[in-house]
Amino acid sequence: MENKVAKSGSATLTVGDKSVELPVLKGSVGPDVVDIRKLYGETDVFTFDPGFTSTASCESQITFIDGDQGILLYRGYPIDQLAESCSFLEVAYLLLNGELPTASELTEFEHTITHHTMVHDQFNRFFQGFRRDAPPMAIMVAAVGALSAFYHDSTNIHDEKQREISAHRMIAKMPTIAAQAFKYSVGQPFVYPRNELSYAENFLRMCFSVPAEDYKPHPVAVKAMNHLLILQADHEQNASTSTVRQAGSSEANPFACIAAGIACLWGPLHGGANEAALNMLKEIGTVDKIPAFIEGVKNREQKLMGFGHRVYKSYDPRAKVMQKTAHEVLDAFGMHDDPLMKVAMELERIALEDQYFIDRKLYPNVDFYSGITMNALGFPADMFTVLFAVSRTVGWIAQWNEMISDPSQKISRPRQVYTGAPHRDVAPIEKRG
Ligand code: CMC
Repeated sequence: MENKVAKSGSATLTVGDKSVELPVLKGSVGPDVVDIRKLYGETDVFTFDPGFTSTASCESQITFIDGDQGILLYRGYPIDQLAESCSFLEVAYLLLNGELPTASELTEFEHTITHHTMVHDQFNRFFQGFRRDAPPMAIMVAAVGALSAFYHDSTNIHDEKQREISAHRMIAKMPTIAAQAFKYSVGQPFVYPRNELSYAENFLRMCFSVPAEDYKPHPVAVKAMNHLLILQADHEQNASTSTVRQAGSSEANPFACIAAGIACLWGPLHGGANEAALNMLKEIGTVDKIPAFIEGVKNREQKLMGFGHRVYKSYDPRAKVMQKTAHEVLDAFGMHDDPLMKVAMELERIALEDQYFIDRKLYPNVDFYSGITMNALGFPADMFTVLFAVSRTVGWIAQWNEMISDPSQKISRPRQVYTGAPHRDVAPIEKRG
């Protein structure tokens, strides 16, 4: 990666009797940043920003978000155009390489990914060690980390070719592993990938086929799967992507870094929100219980899961696309009268009109509609975050690769404000307390 951030001015910071002039840097779009790299060296003070609410942790050329305008661009292309016009593998190629593929580039990329979808046969046995009721996300964290044992030949991160091989392996094998985690958790035999199917079709078939009956996905289900994969493929420096970059900054191998990203994604405030949103709908149960639930949210007894976002403060552009997709799936499968869906639609209506949510700029995020869609496609709630991990893998890899090839990259090592005990001496045990 060639660094492109340029100086556009300067800012002066005065701390006590010391003043330091800090460069102000400009990206291609988005707010300028104050470059504080020399701050500690020149003033002996750190900055304090828990949760990184005001901090750009890296330079990146992959994804741009404008949270106030509700804009999300992958390599400059708006997310709704990509979802409407492209297959997931076209978008994956774009995220990895910076440009949309030509027809021949896409054919070659599809061939490469398709022909790496099988996992080593010994890997299949790795699953046997889990309890039969293991949550699929727990299996994912372990299984993806275990790839570094099975494919250790592609872990030299300083070799560009090996980075590419490990990237292709992970993008290709992630749906296979996710489907295996699902099959294991429901006590069904693994279904092997089929090379004549698209990425989305293949994944659906590996999840829903059984030896007694082949599964042929409905075209609306394939389109919805393609949308789910594209919309969640990357999202700038979110918690799991930052985790992947942080793990990768120590030069850990790519499989271990992606496993770290999966672990972070699992939490209910991040990728786990789609599962939490569906569980919330089940807990509410019927439309007449919604007002009491909303009151509970206002009294801070619970959160409205699938609502709100750290960056989007007008609307989540992914949610716009996913809302349409969710309705298409509900129409195709005749599910609009499903009680859960009725609760979801009514909750959305009430929350969008309620002043409490309007004042706090709390809109449904992508997880609200992706949970509804995945439920309609037949996935149980504990598979939702697994699907998110399948989509996000390409973003994690693109970001990891960008970091490794960034000349300004350093090991990620934040500092702290220490508020614990100052120096004290160890007393003999009989004199303590
Ligand atoms: N339900 C009710 N109130 C909320 C919610 C919510 N989902 N989210 C934020 N608020 C309130 C919060 O109580 C606070 O109110 P006040 O100003 O009166 O104290 C105000 O809105 C600002 O919230 P915040 O906690 O400062 O916002 P944040 O940027 O730190 O949190 C968030 C962002 C996504 C963690 C949060 O909105 C949330 O927990 N949402 C539910 C979980 C969820 O759906 N997560 C998926 C995010 S999208 C997918 C992804 O990127 O992973």
